[in-house]
Amino acid sequence: MRVRRCALLLVFLTTLVLVTWTTAGAQASGQTESSSQLAQTPPMGWNSWNKFACNVSEQLIRETADAMVSAGMQAAGYQYVNIDDCWQVSRDAQGTIVADPKRFPSGIKALADYVHSKGLKLGVYTDAGRLTCQKRPGSYEHELLDAKTYASWGVDYVKIDWCHAEGLDPEVQYAKFRDALAQAGRPIVFSICNWGVKAPWTWGPATGNLWRTTGDINDTYDRMSVIGFSQNGLEKFAGPGHWNDPDMLEVGNGGMKRDEYRTHMALWALLAAPLLAGNDLRSMTPETKEMLTNAEVLAVDQDAKGVQGHRVWDEGPLEIWIKPLANGSHAVGLFNRGESSLKITLDFKMLGSASSLKLRDLWEHKDLGEVQGSYTADVPKHGVVMLSAFK
Ligand code: GAL
Repeated sequence: MRVRRCALLLVFLTTLVLVTWTTAGAQASGQTESSSQLAQTPPMGWNSWNKFACNVSEQLIRETADAMVSAGMQAAGYQYVNIDDCWQVSRDAQGTIVADPKRFPSGIKALADYVHSKGLKLGVYTDAGRLTCQKRPGSYEHELLDAKTYASWGVDYVKIDWCHAEGLDPEVQYAKFRDALAQAGRPIVFSICNWGVKAPWTWGPATGNLWRTTGDINDTYDRMSVIGFSQNGLEKFAGPGHWNDPDMLEVGNGGMKRDEYRTHMALWALLAAPLLAGNDLRSMTPETKEMLTNAEVLAVDQDAKGVQGHRVWDEGPLEIWIKPLANGSHAVGLFNRGESSLKITLDFKMLGSASSLKLRDLWEHKDLGEVQGSYTADVPKHGVVMLSAFK
């Protein structure tokens, strides 16, 4: 009895310490309550850049919002419809940013209203330097005005780039946005995009909700895999409200094979990465749709524990990554980066001490039964076998 009371007291005290510590941490970090409550799981949505580059318009954004609903993306958890570079053209006499009147004749506020009417959220893009990467006006020395403008339009997400920022310190400049967004008074997800300059994972958690860790992705297996597999070690910096961002998805853009896109999705899910689709949602093949909306893979990314996965084993071109999940199980990725099909063996010791595990194949939606000791799979070239493993 006494032992139980002691145990209860210990649990209570530990909880108290943890709650106090977490709250103090959020305050010390300078994050407002509302911003630290955003992105409790990695943000999911769409962004215009990978497919459309500067070819953005209100028509594209409206049609994408429509498609996000009709294609089942919204039901799968995708929420943000994000306009990347090139929506802005100038500043008016008061310094307020002006949207391109030809491409966005109704203005961003009307677009936000439309996107909201679908139950979705709108994102915009700016740059912490003097100009955006495509030489549109940047936000340097307009941080508060821009944050207030976005808030008045009903914007829900802002990605802030790092072009034309010579001589500026990203830690200082991005903190200005954090404070400006807090003052603007609307919960806006803050996406830091400075390509890993000055190790944003060290100051990002106190500044924004996600930060890019590398230069840009492109629609090739080489680039995608170099970025994805290089994330190992960064897992200690991620958690609810603050995520490492290995860049947006290329799934469905046509440059990779099915197994390569499966690797892309599986790896991003194991990394608890933001999932911003980067393809044309209006004309997806059934294969692309199934890949982007696979509920079992998305559940790994969105798991409430919010732990980023890491590599537990590698040998030549083979890698095994695991991600602990809230229900005590693990998600596992058996990856083959090689040029031909190869066998990979998951030794259950890699997941702790269990001698037998119930396995499920998440891409194939297939239970593999209770397995003793280890499991060997044939993994296709550039492909993955993605499993969940329960005790
Ligand atoms: C890059 C950024 C890309 C895209 C592009 C727009 O710096 O990493 O994701 O936003 O600028 O010009």
